[in-house]
Amino acid sequence: MRDITLVTGASGGIGADLARVFARHGHDLALIARSGPKLEALADEIAAMGRPRPLVIVQDLVERDAVDKTVGALAQAGARVTILVNNAGYGVAGVVRKQEPAELLGMVDLNIRALLDLTLRFLPDIIAAKGKILNVASIASYFPGPGMAVYYASKAFVASFSRALNQELKASGVTVTVLNPGVTETGFQRRAGFHNIKELSKMKGVSALAVAEAGYQALMAGKRVVVPGLDNKLATLIVPLVPDALLLPLVARFQGGRV
Ligand SMILES: NC(=O)c1ccc[n+]([C@@H]2O[C@H](COP(=O)([O-])OP(=O)(O)OC[C@H]3O[C@@H](n4cnc5c(N)ncnc54)[C@H](OP(=O)(O)O)[C@@H]3O)[C@@H](O)[C@H]2O)c1
Repeated sequence: MRDITLVTGASGGIGADLARVFARHGHDLALIARSGPKLEALADEIAAMGRPRPLVIVQDLVERDAVDKTVGALAQAGARVTILVNNAGYGVAGVVRKQEPAELLGMVDLNIRALLDLTLRFLPDIIAAKGKILNVASIASYFPGPGMAVYYASKAFVASFSRALNQELKASGVTVTVLNPGVTETGFQRRAGFHNIKELSKMKGVSALAVAEAGYQALMAGKRVVVPGLDNKLATLIVPLVPDALLLPLVARFQGGRV
């Protein structure tokens, strides 16, 4: 049986860098995303580092049977997940009343439903192996996000669920770490529509690799929460103290949605 670290959303951005960091530290990997050629290229890159070539699972995690198919692909390869990295996720900027319902529901399906389904499915093996779970949320999990309301709320779910699960699993030796990046330059901005928003398009933030390194170190140290970057850390400490009447119009302006 091959013990695997499963990374979702590994075809680019933070997920690809998480895969590189795990590989560098000797982990045997399985990579999931919809873009097969990008996953194959990353698997080749990791194999060229002298590491075991990752299993590539081309899968849209929004499909209802996505996790069944993933479990099947892993079983066929004789692999058991001992570390789960739930990274795949997306956001779309804009006010709720003007957004496509399918985009908003798809966000819930990927950011919440798929993450929960994967966690539930692999938890017995992770507990048996005293393994670990890394869930990627966001600093957006710390406050409501008018102008990107469903995305912020989805990340609040991820952060709350992860912290609670970490507590529930204390006696089992399994740790759950939530990684809360701030603005990170990846394909996320393009999909979110951030290039249309002046304040956000100017922000560079922490690199995807630095976010991945911080996530890896925190996971291995068994930390509950990690926020990469000093500005982001300060934001998570200060912003939740600001009353809604002041905070929500500010976030709406930051998001470019004049709500
Ligand atoms: N970038 C930021 O500023 C930022 C800030 C805070 C939190 N985050 C969080 O960090 C995580 C990674 O985001 P990123 O910035 O690296 O974004 P990204 O560059 O857009 O990468 C997203 C990854 O998710 C995969 N993905 C998207 N839809 C999928 C689906 N239906 N099924 C399977 N895989 C899917 C994408 O691959 P395919 O397109 O090939 O499927 C890609 O590998 C997300 O959870 C995001 O919410 C990002």
